[in-house]
Amino acid sequence: MNSDPNSLHEAVTPPADIAEALEASRVRRGGFGTPLYYFPTIGSTNDMAARLAAGGAPEGTTVAAEAQTSGRGRLGRTWFSPPGAGLYLSIVIRPDPGARAASTASAPAGPGLPAALTLASGVALAEAVRETTGLRAEIKWPNDLVVERRKLAGILAEASAQGTDLDFVVLGFGVNVRPVTYPPDVAQRATSIEAELGRPVDRGLLLARTLENLAVCREALRGGDIAGVLGRWRRLSPGAVGARVEWRTPAGPVTGRTAGLDEDGALLVERDGRLERVVAGEVIWL
Ligand code: BTN
Repeated sequence: MNSDPNSLHEAVTPPADIAEALEASRVRRGGFGTPLYYFPTIGSTNDMAARLAAGGAPEGTTVAAEAQTSGRGRLGRTWFSPPGAGLYLSIVIRPDPGARAASTASAPAGPGLPAALTLASGVALAEAVRETTGLRAEIKWPNDLVVERRKLAGILAEASAQGTDLDFVVLGFGVNVRPVTYPPDVAQRATSIEAELGRPVDRGLLLARTLENLAVCREALRGGDIAGVLGRWRRLSPGAVGARVEWRTPAGPVTGRTAGLDEDGALLVERDGRLERVVAGEVIWL
């Protein structure tokens, strides 16, 4: 038996609900979800996807797991990933040949590829939740999914570069599908799709639609339609305008009011009559 939780040797055939939904969406999701590595348990799907990408795996390569033992969240947090409770998946994205150097830094017009993908992944997932379950999930900057301020899903986008050349980005999605007892530090702020709806949902369909939507967003970014993706993000994030929030600055935490998303994907916040840009970290609703 292999004791490495991120070993490729333990990948298995996905369960029927996932396999059938993926098969039905084969054309619409393009190369996303192909190949799919499915694990009953893994350390972190993001780590495995990064390992595969470092070994040359193509864009669209997807790693999914029933449970994670070392699921990671943003800002160094852990992501609670018990079996049967959620969707845990990671997708490899590669810059187009010739776009590598330009895509690590902020391009003259709009965000660089990692920042654009960070926002696009929130759009893809929020629209997939709405379309397949009817739940009106909203995006909290940059790409959390929330329902009435309770967190439904999180996305961890991790870029890998060689020097200034972007090599790949891994987009990791953690979706709370079924109700579970969350750890005390997140219990007040966490919810699940089924807890909100009071009925079961088809997680295979949700997974397949997320991949389809991501494929559409990827094509939009490839075609230079960043404004279209940002427009969809804005419509899915009513809290990005007019909400009282707290955020950290080098001088400590400050408060203000959200004032929209700028064309580079930064959150605008108004403080003492002046606009500031939040480009990293998080904002806390007050
Ligand atoms: C967040 O902090 O909100 C982001 C959470 C991202 C969790 C997902 S679960 C699948 C993938 N693998 C990980 O280790 N993390 C991401």
